[in-house]
Amino acid sequence: MTMKTIRQTAREKLKGFCRVCPECNGKACAGEVPGIGGIGTAASFKSNVVTLAAFRLNMRTLHGAKNPDTTYKLFGQDLSTPILGAPITGNVYNMGGALNEEEWAGAIIQGCLTAGALGCTGDGADPAMYNSGVDAIAKAQGRGIPFIKPREKEEVFNYLRRAEKAGVLAVGMDIDGAGLVTMALKGQPVGPKTKEEMKAIISSTSVPFIIKGVMTVDEAEIAIEVGAAAIVVSNHGGRVLDHTPGTAEVLKKIAEAVGGRIPVLVDGGVRTGVDVLKMLALGADAVLIGRPLVIAAYGGGAEGVALAIRRMTNELKQAMILTGCATLSDITRDVLF
Ligand SMILES: Cc1cc2nc3c(=O)[nH]c(=O)nc-3n(C[C@H](O)[C@H](O)[C@H](O)COP(=O)(O)O)c2cc1C
Repeated sequence: MTMKTIRQTAREKLKGFCRVCPECNGKACAGEVPGIGGIGTAASFKSNVVTLAAFRLNMRTLHGAKNPDTTYKLFGQDLSTPILGAPITGNVYNMGGALNEEEWAGAIIQGCLTAGALGCTGDGADPAMYNSGVDAIAKAQGRGIPFIKPREKEEVFNYLRRAEKAGVLAVGMDIDGAGLVTMALKGQPVGPKTKEEMKAIISSTSVPFIIKGVMTVDEAEIAIEVGAAAIVVSNHGGRVLDHTPGTAEVLKKIAEAVGGRIPVLVDGGVRTGVDVLKMLALGADAVLIGRPLVIAAYGGGAEGVALAIRRMTNELKQAMILTGCATLSDITRDVLF
């Protein structure tokens, strides 16, 4: 199996949903939500890619970073790479259904573990989607992170209890799913959460809780105040609100404000190891990858996912050699031009 064969297979299996473009930038699939694209004009998806691409790197080769160390520790779990699989659901309406939710979640969780990474799973209009993710994580002895939609409080409690039973490493909420009217139409209402509501949710569990979908400094502060163990700077891959900035644009200020109090993760448009290096230089501790792993999982299952992550990790290592970074903590603002 190679990336080339993976992409060929993915192109067949994702027909009508993802074109497996040479560059995954939101142009060809603009407005395709449901589907794989960005919402509306796809300005938010495109901004993720364009603003990340705009950062350039200082090349340095007179140093001793000959064999960089890409290891990363998250909530006590030793990982070989700071790359995580992003939570994704809706295989039938977003990706055509060649994989069912169970096969999808298994490919992501197992593929990530094979590559020394960690996978996340999501939540959608059908409760079975969340359960498939939690089941896949349970099978992996809890090594994975399920994300719950900002459902009504009692529902969130039920979903949390299910995650705890599966022994998950951490659990999260994609708070930016707050406006998904499709969920309400299917009898699964979601909405924004007040500080008090978030405090009640987070304090009800002893499992580290991640808030995903933070795009401003003030909300990063709120996340810390209500007890989040980490945040994900994310605009949901540009799928929830048209015309947000790219995540690479807001990351630096947010990471500076957080100042190491909790890990800052980021996603949106990360396609290569060089992109990972840039996000870390802007202050992220780790990154999540979305659409490239859709292609990897549809094109090659768990093996495809592992291959894609290993490849990106190797690219990161190479970029660390050429920017003089022996460890992930050496990847600072100095790396950026
Ligand atoms: C088809 C699709 C489904 C998604 N479903 C979820 C979900 O259920 N929960 C969630 O937190 N994020 C979901 N996301 C957002 C991803 O977790 C992630 O934030 C985004 O894909 C990152 O951008 P990238 O795809 O450009 O790497 C979804 C994204 C896509 C493309």
